[in-house]
Amino acid sequence: MTKYGSDLWYGFRLHDRGMCLKQPCRRNEQANVPKNRLNRDSLNSMTDSLEGKTLLVTGGAVRIGAAVTRFLHQQGARIIVHYHTSKQQAVSLCDQLSTLRRNSVILAQGDLKNISEIQHVFNDAIGHEEKLDGLINNASRFYPTPLDSANAQQWHDLVGSNMMAPYFLSQWAAPYLRQSRGSIINITDIHAEKPLTDHSIYCSSKAGLASLTRSLAVELGPHIRVNAIAPGAILWPTGSTGDKEERSEIVSRTPLKQTGKPEDIAQAVHFLLTAADFITGQILYLDGGRSIA
Ligand SMILES: NC(=O)c1ccc[n+]([C@@H]2O[C@H](COP(=O)([O-])OP(=O)(O)OC[C@H]3O[C@@H](n4cnc5c(N)ncnc54)[C@H](OP(=O)(O)O)[C@@H]3O)[C@@H](O)[C@H]2O)c1
Repeated sequence: MTKYGSDLWYGFRLHDRGMCLKQPCRRNEQANVPKNRLNRDSLNSMTDSLEGKTLLVTGGAVRIGAAVTRFLHQQGARIIVHYHTSKQQAVSLCDQLSTLRRNSVILAQGDLKNISEIQHVFNDAIGHEEKLDGLINNASRFYPTPLDSANAQQWHDLVGSNMMAPYFLSQWAAPYLRQSRGSIINITDIHAEKPLTDHSIYCSSKAGLASLTRSLAVELGPHIRVNAIAPGAILWPTGSTGDKEERSEIVSRTPLKQTGKPEDIAQAVHFLLTAADFITGQILYLDGGRSIA
C-alpha cells in the first residue's frame, strides 16, 4: 500500500486514463494541474462564447472554410480570413460579416505552398493587434497524382500547402497561443488513413498533418491544445461534375447514408476550441461512419 491513500490520489485518478503517474496529487491540490486548466478566462474554459477571441482560418473564404468562418464569427470571434485566389468571395464575406459587427473580420492573402508567403500571411494576420487565440489550418490542395505521371512540382504543391504550411503557421502562432492558452485545429481527411486511389501524395500530406497534430500536441502542451478533424464526404470537389454512380456508392457505403454539411465541421471546430478542455492530440472523424464501414 502506498503512503498516499486512495483519497490522496483521487485528483489524478479522475483524469489519468490509465497513464503512468509520476507524482501524486492531493484532492483539491492544484500544484500539478497544468495552468491552462486553471485559467478560466482562457479559450479552454467551458464556455461556448468566442467573444474577444481572435482566430485565423486558412482557406476561410469559400466552402467548408467559409462555413467555419461564419459559425465562429456568429459565436462572437474576430476572424482573420486567409485566402489565396478567392479574393472576390473573401471580400464579399468580409463585407457581410463586418456589417453584422464592425472590425470583426480582416483578410490575409497568400499562397501557402511558399514559405515566404506563409510568413507574410502570418504577419498580416497578426497585424498590430499581436494577439491570437486559435489557428484553424483548413486550406488544402486536392487532386490526383497517379504514380506514373506525378512530378516534383505536384509534390511541392500538395505537401507544401497541406502539411508544411500548417507546421510553420503553428510555429509562428505558438508564442501568441501560449499566451492566450489557445488551440490549433488541423483539418485532415479520412483518406489520411484509408488510401484514395491515385491520390497518394494528397493522402500522404494529410497523414503527415495527422502525425504533426499528435507531435505538436506533445510539444506544445500544457498551454496549447492541438487537435484535428478528419472529414469524410462533405462537399464534392469544385469544378468536377463527378461520377454520379461513384458518389452514390460512397453514400451507400456510409453508415449514416448521407454526406455531411460544412456546418458539421464548423460545429466540431467550435467544440474543440471551447469545450474540449482535456482533449489534445486527437483526430475527430466526421464522416457518417464511413471510416469504420
Ligand atoms: N470537401 C470535402 O468533402 C472534404 C473531405 C475531406 C477533407 N476535407 C478537408 O476539409 C478542408 C476544407 O475542404 P474544402 O473542400 O472546403 O477545401 P477546398 O475547397 O479544396 O480548399 C480550401 C481552400 O484552400 C485554399 N488553398 C488551397 N491551396 C492553397 C495554397 N497553396 N495557398 C493558400 N491557400 C490554398 C484555397 O483558397 P482560395 O480559394 O482562396 O484559393 C481553397 O479555397 C480541407 O482541408 C480538405 O482537405 C474536405
